Amino acid sequence: MTERTLSIIKPDAVAKNVIGEIYSRFEKAGLQIVAARMVQLSRADAEGFYAVHKERPFFNDLVEFMISGPVMVQVLEGEGAIAKNRDLMGATNPKDAAPGTIRADFADSIDANAVHGSDAPETAKVEIDYFFGESGLCPRG
Ligand code: CMP
Repeated sequence: MTERTLSIIKPDAVAKNVIGEIYSRFEKAGLQIVAARMVQLSRADAEGFYAVHKERPFFNDLVEFMISGPVMVQVLEGEGAIAKNRDLMGATNPKDAAPGTIRADFADSIDANAVHGSDAPETAKVEIDYFFGESGLCPRG
């Protein structure tokens, strides 16, 4: 099934200058970038995006990290895009990430873990709407 997922290249990976290397992995896996924007998130932006984690002990550190520098936000489209992107990313904690995954290759810690990807169709829709809305996408059919 053709799906869309929201991907964020986090401040650590943007600072490492590996946006292109990460995009290349998306494209080689057959995912198309149908929207993209570089943005310096405000605190309110980051808190809103990660609102589901508000009660978690790591919430404040997560928000601080996500506003520490610009992020690259994109919508990926393709067959099974949500799972495909999660496979490409690897486990949340880079210590557990399989060799060859984005987090194994580029992430330093569970906080500075290079990328975010939606985890389910419902969250993908909410996350895509948060940054782009339906009219902000450029699907190529
Ligand atoms: P992400 O997929 O962006 O979703 C929430 C983020 O919180 C996660 O990646 C991690 O970078 C960060 N985080 C920090 N500590 C934890 C934790 N113990 N469990 C899950 N996520 C964590």
